[in-house]
Amino acid sequence: MSQNQKKKHQQVVEKTFSKNNTSNYTEKLRVLGKQFNYASNSNYYWSNPELSLLYSTPLYEAASPLQKLALNHLYWVGNYNQTAASEANTIIYNKVTAGVFNAVGGYDTLCRELDFETDQENDHIRAFQQVCYQTKIAITGKTVLGNPLYSKSDKLSASDWVRQLVPQQLQKVFISSQGTTQMSAYWNSALSFVAKEMLKEKKEYYSHYLRELDQKGKQIPAAVDGIVGRIAPQHWLRFFTLNWGISPFMACQYYSIRYTGNAILKNQEYPYFKYFQELEQKGEFIPTPTAISYNHLLDEAFHTTISQTLARDIYKDFPKPTAYEKFVSGQMIYMMQQNLLSGLSGVLPGRCVADSPLLMLFFYKLLKSPLFALSTQEALDWLEKCFCQEHDGFHVGLKYHQRLIESLRRLFSCLDYQWPINRDMGVMAAGGSISKALQNNIKTFNHFSKSVADNS
Ligand SMILES: [Fe+2]
Ligand SMILES: [Fe+2]
Repeated sequence: MSQNQKKKHQQVVEKTFSKNNTSNYTEKLRVLGKQFNYASNSNYYWSNPELSLLYSTPLYEAASPLQKLALNHLYWVGNYNQTAASEANTIIYNKVTAGVFNAVGGYDTLCRELDFETDQENDHIRAFQQVCYQTKIAITGKTVLGNPLYSKSDKLSASDWVRQLVPQQLQKVFISSQGTTQMSAYWNSALSFVAKEMLKEKKEYYSHYLRELDQKGKQIPAAVDGIVGRIAPQHWLRFFTLNWGISPFMACQYYSIRYTGNAILKNQEYPYFKYFQELEQKGEFIPTPTAISYNHLLDEAFHTTISQTLARDIYKDFPKPTAYEKFVSGQMIYMMQQNLLSGLSGVLPGRCVADSPLLMLFFYKLLKSPLFALSTQEALDWLEKCFCQEHDGFHVGLKYHQRLIESLRRLFSCLDYQWPINRDMGVMAAGGSISKALQNNIKTFNHFSKSVADNS
């Protein structure tokens, strides 16, 4: 890489750090979270109705104005519960990768920016939780809904979530039978051996964060939720983390995944930002969650710039990736496409993964909660109409899918080391199909309704 190019991305980092430091979006967001009171916001839409659970489905058309309002608020809750989980991922991986950049030297501002972002994410998470908790209790009372809106597919072992939230008689349907503790320990040590062996020439850059964990005898953390937690089973995630924490190239490569998280969030958060501006222009009441989304988008714009600069430019500061590094990077993004981006939802605008039994269970419980108070048969009939028959909700989903794939291709098409199927988001593109989504949902629904019948 030429000195000029290096200087250019250094300037981007310096400028982003300085602007982020002097902005006050985090402070505003912190105050908004503390002030939030559901009763003062409950009569207002928090976004355009489009960002509502079940939007444009036959059930939405039949819902009362009060139910529609609740579906709009619950969408916010689902979206920001998931965002909070992804930002908890960010906190860990910022530390893992900053440890590598510190060891390389010459990236002081970048490391300070990553530390600063970590503090911001802590404040973001707290504000989201303040709104989510109150809202969920106010709308659904003590009904335990959980947040499977974006949970891992059951294939990736949803057992913890399932044990917490699913009535015992339904658990066996959702608990994955794959893997034992002994087996995971075997995979952990085998994959750790591979990473350390293949990257032994880079061990001088080993992240001090991981070194400290080693010294305390602790295992490398593996996310169970959030964007990273959903891309692969835990032994793979530990392996990926080790790669991000040893090799400077791989540390940069992590930011292509963080960028994906940024893009997914922006795809859903930008409409809240626009809605805030419209209300402000008209001088109308601005609900607190809308204002939180508005300020969050502005804060996250700094983080997106950093993700993009690391993923697209800074990696070129380091020696070209080895065949091993290319392979691991390719495998990672391929798995991310398969597990996070390979489908389309007709009931949850903006969700680009096939609807799973867990999602059906969530809606089933919602329909039986005091909000809809349906009988088992009524709930199943509506689920069948919403998940298994074509309606406008799928076309809304397709619009968000299209927007997301475009923003992902903007980054991934620039990564010359990536596999062609990752550069053009081929797996994601193939999943953007209404007929495939319907076929998948019919199978899932048949399985789901049978399990309900068997257990009732
Ligand atoms: Fe955030
Ligand atoms: Fe962020």
